[in-house]
Amino acid sequence: MSELAIIGGTGALDLFPVLEEQAMETTWGEPSAPVARVALDRTEAWFLARHGRPHRIPPHRINYRANIDGLKRLGVRRIISINAVGGVDPSIAPGCLVVPDQLIDYTWGRPHTFSDDSESPLVHVEFANPFEGPVRQALLDAGELAGVPVLDGGCMAVIQGPRLETAAEIARLARDGCSMVGMTGMPETALAREAGLDYASLSVVANAAAGLEQEPITLKEIKRVLSSAMGDVRRLLDSLAF
Ligand code: HPA
Repeated sequence: MSELAIIGGTGALDLFPVLEEQAMETTWGEPSAPVARVALDRTEAWFLARHGRPHRIPPHRINYRANIDGLKRLGVRRIISINAVGGVDPSIAPGCLVVPDQLIDYTWGRPHTFSDDSESPLVHVEFANPFEGPVRQALLDAGELAGVPVLDGGCMAVIQGPRLETAAEIARLARDGCSMVGMTGMPETALAREAGLDYASLSVVANAAAGLEQEPITLKEIKRVLSSAMGDVRRLLDSLAF
């Protein structure tokens, strides 16, 4: 079976038709949803709805450990994460797709490691380049093949949510060198690294971050942008070849 999994976030629940569903076993509790087997044009993959199906689990309540451990137990070795983000860099407009190369973790209080008790081995994983690896390159290559523009690189700020940010918080993220902001990149990315999985993010810019535009950010507009960007996401993923 496929060694590739796609973890779909906000707006990415129904990217591909489901062929079958399978429950996942983990020692960390319940994953967000049963994992679905899906067919892309050139490959097969597992698909996991990060916020559950229907979409109901807030970012700080997702059982990231169960999700990553469950996928690993299914034999998954590569993960593509779809993340909705806000654009902190004003040049990254709503609708853009970005493959980030860095992140800064601003989250707190989330169970964030598998090294969590005296039974589990204590691991200090190397994490200088959190998204490096063949999956990241495969996303860029697939974008090129599909003719879907993808921005190569950028720093993702991962914030606690579920509220959006203040304008001052976004100004600070910009000073910190972040170009986009989302709520679910961590601890997922670090757990994938601890589990020895190759992991990269395809980030979909849903809105200009707080304070960058006159108009307030609305969920309605975020949903509209994400739904129209999902066509590009799908075409890109359909061009993936592993
Ligand atoms: N901030 C944080 N997370 C997000 C945003 C945002 O503006 N847009 C989509 N996810």
